[in-house]
Amino acid sequence: MEQINPGKRDGFTSKFGIVAAAAGSAIGLGNIWRFPYVVGESGGGAFLLVYLSFILLLGIPVMLSEFIIGRKAKKNAYGAIKSIAPGTWWPVIGIMGIVAAFVILAFYSTIAGWTLHYVYLSISNGFKGQDAQALENLFGSFMSSATMPLFWQMVFLILTAGIIIAGVKKGIEKYSKILMPFLLLLLISLCIRALTLPGAMDGLVFLFKPDFSMINPQVILSALGQAAFSLSIGMGALITYGSYFPKSTNLSNTAFEVSLADVLIAILAGVAIFPAVFALGMQPDGGVGLIFMVLPNVFQQMPGGYIVAIAFFVLLSIAALTSSISIMEVVVAFLTEEFNLKRKHATVITLIAAAFVGVFCTLSWGTFEHVSIAGRNIFDTLDFTASSILLPLGGLLIVLFTGWYMVKGEIEEELTNQGVLKLKLFRVFMFLIRFVAPVAIAVVFLNGIGLF
Ligand code: PHE
Repeated sequence: MEQINPGKRDGFTSKFGIVAAAAGSAIGLGNIWRFPYVVGESGGGAFLLVYLSFILLLGIPVMLSEFIIGRKAKKNAYGAIKSIAPGTWWPVIGIMGIVAAFVILAFYSTIAGWTLHYVYLSISNGFKGQDAQALENLFGSFMSSATMPLFWQMVFLILTAGIIIAGVKKGIEKYSKILMPFLLLLLISLCIRALTLPGAMDGLVFLFKPDFSMINPQVILSALGQAAFSLSIGMGALITYGSYFPKSTNLSNTAFEVSLADVLIAILAGVAIFPAVFALGMQPDGGVGLIFMVLPNVFQQMPGGYIVAIAFFVLLSIAALTSSISIMEVVVAFLTEEFNLKRKHATVITLIAAAFVGVFCTLSWGTFEHVSIAGRNIFDTLDFTASSILLPLGGLLIVLFTGWYMVKGEIEEELTNQGVLKLKLFRVFMFLIRFVAPVAIAVVFLNGIGLF
């Protein structure tokens, strides 16, 4: 293994480690929990099509811009932008990213906590002999209770903080590298089982056959939010990770590979869920609990389902961890580099603050079920604020910054690794980040919130 970044700053080491860590950030609950439930609520195939176009035309350019900024400046998101554009207001992107990181950590840890509880349920054989209705009730009473969801949320946040304290190389890289390929295999086996259930075809039709009457400005904004959330873009997580990349990383290839892996996992999750939803006679718009209500049915109808259930929820928890560390790292890198805090202290402060907001979020269906803001409960409000507002706006500012503020030569240097690699599709990239992405994000955003 090459030893890169011998200086004070911690960095990633092997090539596979880099792609795996960035993919570890991208692949998580966003693909397996959020994607199916949002597709289900947004009417299926047409949403998928809009989502895929956003990934290609907006998502990959934003991701690549983040890598360019991060690796050029070798600093946390705020510090990176400040060092490229001193004395300007551009570093506000970094501040928005910090806010987004807290908001996302709060609700992400709620769902990750549910996932940990489902690890426990699968080990204790808690789904055994329960029919679809019973599994729905099981989930419903769990999510609205005030004890177990909070307990597991705290376990998850503490695990995240523990890995962060262990440091970048030892922590992040080691875990993501070994485990992600297993998750892929497991998803494929779930797809095979779901597809061979009677009535499965209706699920495929729902997922892949576009019905454009389902499209409206809110659905389009939600597809944009889903694309940003799933790719981990718009809040500086990938600026921060990019800052740990060595000089030799091929940034464009990494952005392509990570996005491809991310989309693949999301679609596989869809193919595992929707056929089962229709085969079981359930509704696709079951909301935030969709995978927790549907998948235990599938496990029960599989040979070795007991083990598959455990492996699935364990791997999903780990996928969630490799994402949540990238979210927490945004805040920790900021606090350590801008305020000279020790890594440990910065992590503990972040942990406490995230846990505080997280509690309200987790109690959205129980203690605080009556709290509603513009028709959304606390959880949905946080999710909407992050995915549909902060990430798209962050993405917009990031492409504007890269496309219009940064010098072309600087971008070229990063894309070619100081002239070592050939420059491919440079004009296409510049056109996307200067014109297509900013205009599209602005229009979708203003339309989606009803201002246009
Ligand atoms: N992309 C992650 C997921 O899909 C979530 C995430 C969002 C991570 C934003 C970092 C930044 O689960």
